[in-house]
Amino acid sequence: MQIVQSIEELRAILREWRKAGLSVGLVPTMGYLHEGHKSLIVRAVSENDRVVVSDFVNPTQFGVNEDLASYPRDLRRDAALCEEAGASLVFHPEAEEMYVKDNCTFVDMDSLTKGLCGKTRPTHFRGVCTVVTKLFHIVSPDRAYFGEKDAQQLAVIRRMTRDLNFDITIVGCPIVREQDGLALSSRNTYLSSEERKAALILHKSLLLGEEMMKAGERDAATVKEAIVRNMKTEPLARIDYVEIVDAGTLENVTRIESPVLTATAVYIGSTRLIDNFSFCP
Ligand code: PAF
Repeated sequence: MQIVQSIEELRAILREWRKAGLSVGLVPTMGYLHEGHKSLIVRAVSENDRVVVSDFVNPTQFGVNEDLASYPRDLRRDAALCEEAGASLVFHPEAEEMYVKDNCTFVDMDSLTKGLCGKTRPTHFRGVCTVVTKLFHIVSPDRAYFGEKDAQQLAVIRRMTRDLNFDITIVGCPIVREQDGLALSSRNTYLSSEERKAALILHKSLLLGEEMMKAGERDAATVKEAIVRNMKTEPLARIDYVEIVDAGTLENVTRIESPVLTATAVYIGSTRLIDNFSFCP
């Protein structure tokens, strides 16, 4: 397995693969890989002849007061995980390789990005759309793989792929959890052991909401209130949002009568965690 830092070198390799008629899967990541990323790579390996994993902490998707500088990085460990999962190549560019000094072109989206995480992270999805567009242009994959934990991101990328006519199949992959239910995230590494226990409140509260829906509750406000009430029993948790939205438009719903996404972002201490579940009535 190779680690490539330059776009030119990556393109040369891709040209050879294309000439040989090989299909290519792309797994975009920001590194510090865990079992959740591994499940994306394993899926990509099972569906493509070659798999590129991009490992790039994308500066444009971090707000000014966010954790760009402290975001965890470990290329050696990432490369070992990619190799074990069967990836063909890790693309690990420097920021200057991805963004020329006077870069002034960005990809933005009018809808889908304003609510949920977009409320507290107003420039986040512009950064995500921009870097994913760049990766799509550079790699030109047949398929690209994203985790359902970032449900809003997945919806945004699906829409962007459609709107910008990328000939790429977007594959969403299920959330991977620790045994006790905590959704895997590179940011879990920020949690102290006390915070780690407190973080379980996200999944527990969402499970409660899911059980209510399964039992037939169709009033979104009632389910949301129950989730919020349960979250508030954890003193270390500070809710950013709990929302029940239409799975396609990400607009708030009052009744649960078509597929919905229930999504939450919660600060545990200073670490912001997200989680969600989908429900089809
Ligand atoms: O989900 C992530 O890790 C990032 O947002 C992505 C898609 C790799 C873009 O930087």
